[in-house]
Amino acid sequence: MTASRIDDSALRAEVRAVGALLGRVIREQEGERIYQLVERVRTLAVARRRRPTAPGERTLQRLIRRLEQEDIEAVARAFTLFLHLVNVVESRHAPQLDPGAGSGSLAALLRRLSRRGTPSDLVARTLSDLRATVVLTAHPTEATRWSVHKILSRVDRALEAGARAGEAELLREITALWQTQLQRERRPTPIGEVQHALHTLETVFQDAIPRVHERLAKAFESAYGARLEPPARPVRVGSWVGGDRDGNPNVTAWVTSEALRLHRQTTLAAYWRAIPTLIDLLTPSEKRVPVSEELRASVERDLEELPRLRERLEGYESHELYRRKLNAVAVRLELSMEETDAAELPGLRGGYPDAGALAADLELIDRSLRGERGARLADGMLQTLRERVASFGFRLASLDVREHQARHRAAAASLLCPVEGPLEGLPVEEQQRFLEHCFLHEPDEPLPPLDSLDDAAREVLSTLLTVRESMARLDPGAVRDLVISDTHDHANVLELLVLARRVGLVRRSSDGGVESAVNIVPLFEKVDSLAAAETSMERLYESPAYRAQLRARGMRQQIMLGYSDSAKDGGYFAACFALQRAQRALADQAARHGVHLEFFHGRGGTISRGGGPTHRAILAQPPETVRGRIKLTEQGEVITSKYGTSEAAVHHLEQLASAVLEATLAHPMQGRTARVSWMGAMDTLAERSRARYRGLVYEEPGFVDLFYAATPIEEIAGLRIGSRPAKRRGGRRIESLRAIPWNFAWNQNRVLLSSWYGAGAALQEMLAEPDGEQRLRAMYRGWLFFRTVIDNLQQVLAKVDMEVGAAYGELARDLPDAVALLQRIRDEHTACRRSVLRVVGSKRLLEGEPALRRSIERRNPYIDSLSQLQLELLRRKRSGGVRGATLEAMDGAIQLTIAGVAAGLRNTG
Ligand code: PGA
Repeated sequence: MTASRIDDSALRAEVRAVGALLGRVIREQEGERIYQLVERVRTLAVARRRRPTAPGERTLQRLIRRLEQEDIEAVARAFTLFLHLVNVVESRHAPQLDPGAGSGSLAALLRRLSRRGTPSDLVARTLSDLRATVVLTAHPTEATRWSVHKILSRVDRALEAGARAGEAELLREITALWQTQLQRERRPTPIGEVQHALHTLETVFQDAIPRVHERLAKAFESAYGARLEPPARPVRVGSWVGGDRDGNPNVTAWVTSEALRLHRQTTLAAYWRAIPTLIDLLTPSEKRVPVSEELRASVERDLEELPRLRERLEGYESHELYRRKLNAVAVRLELSMEETDAAELPGLRGGYPDAGALAADLELIDRSLRGERGARLADGMLQTLRERVASFGFRLASLDVREHQARHRAAAASLLCPVEGPLEGLPVEEQQRFLEHCFLHEPDEPLPPLDSLDDAAREVLSTLLTVRESMARLDPGAVRDLVISDTHDHANVLELLVLARRVGLVRRSSDGGVESAVNIVPLFEKVDSLAAAETSMERLYESPAYRAQLRARGMRQQIMLGYSDSAKDGGYFAACFALQRAQRALADQAARHGVHLEFFHGRGGTISRGGGPTHRAILAQPPETVRGRIKLTEQGEVITSKYGTSEAAVHHLEQLASAVLEATLAHPMQGRTARVSWMGAMDTLAERSRARYRGLVYEEPGFVDLFYAATPIEEIAGLRIGSRPAKRRGGRRIESLRAIPWNFAWNQNRVLLSSWYGAGAALQEMLAEPDGEQRLRAMYRGWLFFRTVIDNLQQVLAKVDMEVGAAYGELARDLPDAVALLQRIRDEHTACRRSVLRVVGSKRLLEGEPALRRSIERRNPYIDSLSQLQLELLRRKRSGGVRGATLEAMDGAIQLTIAGVAAGLRNTG
């Protein structure tokens, strides 16, 4: 698709319409003066982008410098809201403007497969084993309040009605937006986060996932002319919200247990709420058509077992058997909820022992209807509910539990060797021997009273006990995966295995093997641990203790890859390549050991956190590493932008499922995978870029001060956008800062350094070598991985604004090294931009992605203005000149601009 060929006129018209309505509301609410001020800033910012001149730049800066705090806030609010409205409009049009939308659909892919002669039974078999799992996390990357999102989704609905038809509604919602406080004043609690995730799961995923499966079935039928048997349900959803405690002391064992309870209750309640509609719809009378004998017998049984059913049925005709049965279903669902709350075993009071029992009741109704010419009745809502129960069971998402390896280590030390001293400090082989011995030979002993253990051990063990209790009582699938963050080596995995055994999640069985209720998932997230991952896994695959665990889990192993921490550690290029190389090696190794491997990609929104278009990212994985399974995180602002509505969610989930199927069966670059020499070149690029990146970020003594002075990192750390703290430990070291605020800060000052620094020098050096340019261009043309890395860099570079960055740099003026360091950053940026363009062979960035380029261009003047406003506020705050405003008000205004810039970039960090 080229620039001239995209037709985004409908999108542009809608942007103009909402912009005009916003203007009207500002006039009504604030009066002419503010309206004119907003317009003036806007006009100057647009002019600055069209014709960058120094006097134009200065006029805008002068104007902003003179503004009172209140006026700054009004302008910031206006632009933030405009950017939010643009986001809504763009999301509505995204499926049509997505360059991969057509070819990435399931229908197109299945047609291609069928044309290519891929046999239908192979496709059906692959589909029945396919898993594409999206995991929602509570990572603090959504700067917009949930209440604001709710208003924005009403805006979306009003736009759906047509800008004209919905005008009154749009004006109402925009007025509500204007009068709503945009920034948070209180941190969400972990339970608030759980409830919010459940809201998304219930309102979006519960509807979207069955729709994707339906599309898949239809696409298969139309491509192969046969029904898809067995029906495939490849799309899954998981959650970390309430289960991820890594670095978040607010997520306690109680929070996890409450999250599990809420998941179950929300799901049961959603099914229960669907029943009255079915009662309205399924009115057939026995006087008109018979019902099956099994249905009649089951209603008899229900009446015997459920005393409250008789009363409930008093108002119903006795010849309407479907309605009678559906009432029984409603009663059993109510009892199931009561049993959960009373901490009883499911089924004890007449509730459903498991989701299979509910499915069986619904199938009974379905069979009876179909057996008596009622297929049309069975195909409607009943079918939808059956599909939901089949897709979700009694949980909308299964919960993963994640903890940092150091906490497991502390717990293992305190539990296993309180006398001998900690495991820390022993060579890893000795740790391995000790842990294997504990796992294989120590007798099953009851746990010591938790009170006798230290805090870390108590919390780690109570969490594992909660998980075990919940799985044993309520739902064996409620939790499947225990993730270990910052895994260094195999001892970290064995530690958790031993702990899991001590709490009974893993048990020795009578036949000498083990039974295990959970997967143990190492998360490799540093460049060095990624490089050593193959060795770590080799030790595990050879370990008798770990092999027993693997056998108990059907020889399936999940490995999680951390994108942002590896990029924070070694820079973008080095992280990308370390991840790519590790995946290949790990996949080959697993195949050698007869292990089915599933990669879990810990990706965030920005490029340096693994963001970028998912479809493309999956196809860029080494072909042999997908093999029908993929799991990935979706977080914060990505959840709202990709899964804000069912429509958007269906689109993204379909693209995901289709990419996984394509990567498994029909990799587009098969036979064109990386040549050995390309791997070598990439290795060189990664190494050079890493040295350059670390040389600045970790080795340059003045860098930390520059970072704190020239970004709003302190204000970001003070944002109350998630329950998790911004740092793992105190102090100002880059190492203790989490990856999210690190990226967030660089996005805000528009330098986006964390996404590209180091790549420029590496590319430039290679371009200067004989044949360097030729080689890099060939890699770009022929190696999808490299192409994705470079195209993502293009996206990042298109969002960088070095002029704004330089103005932030002024905030660091008093630091001795600032000038030299800022110059180094500028030079590296120039090198990066030039080199990327040479590799791509184009004159400007994003030549091949006109929709994205236009979107960035549309937003830029507003983001620029917000940056200028933020800068002015920071300047005032740091010089102590708050001009009558309280510090709190000042921080509030800065946070407003932070949220505005994040909305404009569509990424926090
Ligand atoms: P983590 O995630 O810090 O929770 O590992 C980082 C990210 O998603 O960027």
